[in-house]
Amino acid sequence: MNNNDIAQIVINWYKKENFAMPWRTNSNPYKIWISEIMLQQTQVNTVIPFYIKWLKRFPTINLLANAKIDDVLKCWEGLGYYSRAHNLHNTAKEIVNKHNANLPNNYSDLIKLKGIGDYTASAILSIAFKMPHPVFDGNIRRVFSRLFILKEDSKIIIKAKKEMLKYMQSCDPSDINQAMMDFGRLICSPKKPQCNICVLNKLCKAHIANDVLSYPQSKKKQAKPTYDVVVGFIIKDNKILISKRKKNKQLGGLWELPGGKKKKKERLLDCLRREVLEELDIQIDQSKKIGKIKHQYSHFNINLTGFQCHYQKGIPKPLSSDEIKWIKFNEIKDFAFPASTLKLFTLYEAYNRHHT
Ligand code: ADE
Repeated sequence: MNNNDIAQIVINWYKKENFAMPWRTNSNPYKIWISEIMLQQTQVNTVIPFYIKWLKRFPTINLLANAKIDDVLKCWEGLGYYSRAHNLHNTAKEIVNKHNANLPNNYSDLIKLKGIGDYTASAILSIAFKMPHPVFDGNIRRVFSRLFILKEDSKIIIKAKKEMLKYMQSCDPSDINQAMMDFGRLICSPKKPQCNICVLNKLCKAHIANDVLSYPQSKKKQAKPTYDVVVGFIIKDNKILISKRKKNKQLGGLWELPGGKKKKKERLLDCLRREVLEELDIQIDQSKKIGKIKHQYSHFNINLTGFQCHYQKGIPKPLSSDEIKWIKFNEIKDFAFPASTLKLFTLYEAYNRHHT
């Protein structure tokens, strides 16, 4: 058995398992691009409904390029890492203007586009255009690390690249890339690899040495800080006040409830009153706690507490946001909010059912 058998064995496994994913039913470059951007930081099962909704809303690159950013963000709402949606929108415009609405079919043009790095350029070229460009995500690196007992990232990448390019001389680049992705994620998983059912177990040096979990070298993850954040459903004439986050900030362009980060030793309600005064120049009263949710962002976690309160006095101004609006609760669906705020809306609906 030689190393070239590895590709054939993994592709046979992939074809037999036949994992259904909506982006695997055709190779339209626009659709592959959308799927790869969504899959950059999000798991397959989470992506699927968003991908289907997106292609209904923006079936062509021209429709995306001509859309308003608020509609683009609304369609991305809940998927996280919103810079991806901003980049998709800007890049769609650029492709329409500079590339006649066709995704480039070469590496050097693709890599110049915002939001497209080495991984995504290689995925698009191999999957949409069947060109020999290997992709390397953490899953694929782990497979090669174990197969050839390589610990360091740089060594793994050199070996993986050499092997994958060799496989691509005789195998379909789309198949081998996607087969390896699935294999790494589902069989050669980090903590509980399925070595007993692994089709490569006889070729895997780490398995033969009974030392699979030592590969690859684990990177120490930095502990994420947790912030206590408090926000208000500020009510006036049956409407609530929402504000639009500044464009250049994290979650820029999304709407949120007014509030902010609690200081050490500050009480939640004092924090809310202070933030509302600082951000909007208004005062509130009759505050009642709605509840608390937890949410994980990429670099930190938050505990988000919501209060219902009433507008008391002052003229609201967007002192630290791009825009503010009074909206009816049933208009929430017309604006894009971060996932943490959406969780609070669910709590608030339950609160209102019990208190009205
Ligand atoms: N992750 C990134 N791209 C993927 C793809 N095309 N299939 C499955 N998982 C992926």
